[in-house]
Amino acid sequence: MKFFLDTADLNEIEEAASWGALAGVTTNPTLYARIGGRLADFPAHIGRICALVDGPVSAETVETRRDGIVEEGRALAAIAPNVVVKVPTMVEGLAATRTLANEGIRVNMTLCFTVPQALLAARSGARYVSPFVGRFDDSSEDGLEHLSNIVIALNNYDFTKAGVADESIEVIAASIRSANHVTQAALLGADIATVPFNVLKKCLEHPLTTSGLTSFLNDWEKVRNA
Ligand code: E4P
Repeated sequence: MKFFLDTADLNEIEEAASWGALAGVTTNPTLYARIGGRLADFPAHIGRICALVDGPVSAETVETRRDGIVEEGRALAAIAPNVVVKVPTMVEGLAATRTLANEGIRVNMTLCFTVPQALLAARSGARYVSPFVGRFDDSSEDGLEHLSNIVIALNNYDFTKAGVADESIEVIAASIRSANHVTQAALLGADIATVPFNVLKKCLEHPLTTSGLTSFLNDWEKVRNA
């Protein structure tokens, strides 16, 4: 499973990228608003993220009609070669995704919650589909079970475009709230988990790692002083 960072914060992206395991970034309007982003600076900001990350960077459309989504998607895709256009999973989004995919523009269908939504996203030519785990949990449903169903359903079929393996749809486990979500997403076979920076840090933490390191360093002090 690959790790994407779910943020629009340049400092977080720069720091996570320096760890050497970051495969991409996802943003959304909420994440851009959270960093105090301004409308006029949005394309330049996406460009800055794209320069920091060696991998796909999802930038979300906010139009709700297919023509508008397509126009916005083309403009976003023109910012940098690693931009992926994020489109909501709905009728107008599906139609726009087909047009964008036909033009060779990669689409990440977002706000996906059900198996039929994911299958339709795949049929429309989406390169990525993002099932939201945490938001199901927030509403007292089991988000991981829904993620599992989507992974199983997509794996039942061959969505490889003309036999090109790396063009096949990938599942991005999104709305990730904890390291346990990451663990379970990997065990369920999600291709990617997009995680907030605080969760990415938690993924590297374990009390036995901390106590083990302390004892190794203490023992090395004994060696030094022997
Ligand atoms: C996915 O691409 C979304 O940006 C994100 O994971 C949404 O997560 P949230 O439910 O924490 O807002």
